[in-house]
Amino acid sequence: MDHGDGDQRLRKGDRIALLTSGGDAPGMNTGLRAAAKVGAALGLEVLGVEEGYKGLIEGRFRTLEPRALDDAARRGGTLIGTARSKLFMTEEGRARAREEILKARLRGLVVLGGNGSLTGARALDGTLCHDGSPLRVVGLPASIDNDLGCTAMAIGVDTAMNTIMEACDRIADTALAHQRVFIVEVMGRDCGYLAMTAGIATGADAVLFREGGKSDEQIVDQVMRAVEAAFARAAGRRHVLVIKSEGVSFDSGKLKEAVDARIAGRFDTDTRVTVLGHVVRGGSPTAFDRLLASRLANVAVRALFEGQTQVMAGWTAPHTGRPSRAPSRHDPHVTLWPLEEVLAETAKMHSGDSEVVKWRVKALSEAEAVLYT
Ligand code: F6P
Repeated sequence: MDHGDGDQRLRKGDRIALLTSGGDAPGMNTGLRAAAKVGAALGLEVLGVEEGYKGLIEGRFRTLEPRALDDAARRGGTLIGTARSKLFMTEEGRARAREEILKARLRGLVVLGGNGSLTGARALDGTLCHDGSPLRVVGLPASIDNDLGCTAMAIGVDTAMNTIMEACDRIADTALAHQRVFIVEVMGRDCGYLAMTAGIATGADAVLFREGGKSDEQIVDQVMRAVEAAFARAAGRRHVLVIKSEGVSFDSGKLKEAVDARIAGRFDTDTRVTVLGHVVRGGSPTAFDRLLASRLANVAVRALFEGQTQVMAGWTAPHTGRPSRAPSRHDPHVTLWPLEEVLAETAKMHSGDSEVVKWRVKALSEAEAVLYT
């Protein structure tokens, strides 16, 4: 029984674990540090799970040294490792994870990760602890893609945007020197958020993203409009920067060929492609990501302690047409959302049905119109 009195709250001395899963995101380590510190201050014993759900299935728990956490908090990646566990997606894997949770005498779990990781957290609903009480599970949004519902920002997004911006600024130097067209491909899986925001921050000439739903031909037209606006109208522009999200199915090399064919004989320029790839996912977290991770972790661990479960701590969630929720009493910018709702909204973001994604597409098309007038 749960302390014999039906009280769902944790007590001093109870054990919880922190787990990072899926693609790492800068700020995960800062989130781990904050969660461990808040947990310790509440009198909890806080462990780390090695390599996400893979380590959970294998019962790989470890103590978290405050000094190691402090050092890691300044760095990208994740101190306790991460993985994309195929086994955890099966009932067999989940059953093994439940056994390890029992054996380790865990009463709570904090999951830091993206869509797949929070889906895993949801799947642990109903897991029983050694004392017969339900395991409390709280999620933190951490993914550079910013494709999660019920949070305006996920941990890692700001650092990734800054990395892209810096890379594009460097590319602009050489592009300008040679009067070239650069196509810069950035991560984000199926979500164009990083391309969109980096496009605005760098003053890019065109931003290509999957949510736009454009055909290959329309994409080439869009790039050519940017080239014409830059070079033909004597606008004083000496280079063209195109930011392309990796979710656009039109291969960057093929796009270059198509653009080259249309440029030939018309403009004295040439094109280059840079794929930023995993560079975007590494590096020291920005101040914003460190604060975000710390504030979300603070609320998440306190929620867990107070007996909440199956919720995610979200950052000033944008309006999506659903009823709003009161912010946490521990932080006016953080709201606890049921994981079920988070995952439903995330699915809508992926299918393009979410109000947030519709707004993003509209905002970018308005930005494009401003660019070419
Ligand atoms: O979800 C985060 C992310 O970095 C995506 O932007 C990218 O498509 C994917 O992970 C890459 O995954 P992996 O590191 O497994 O190649």
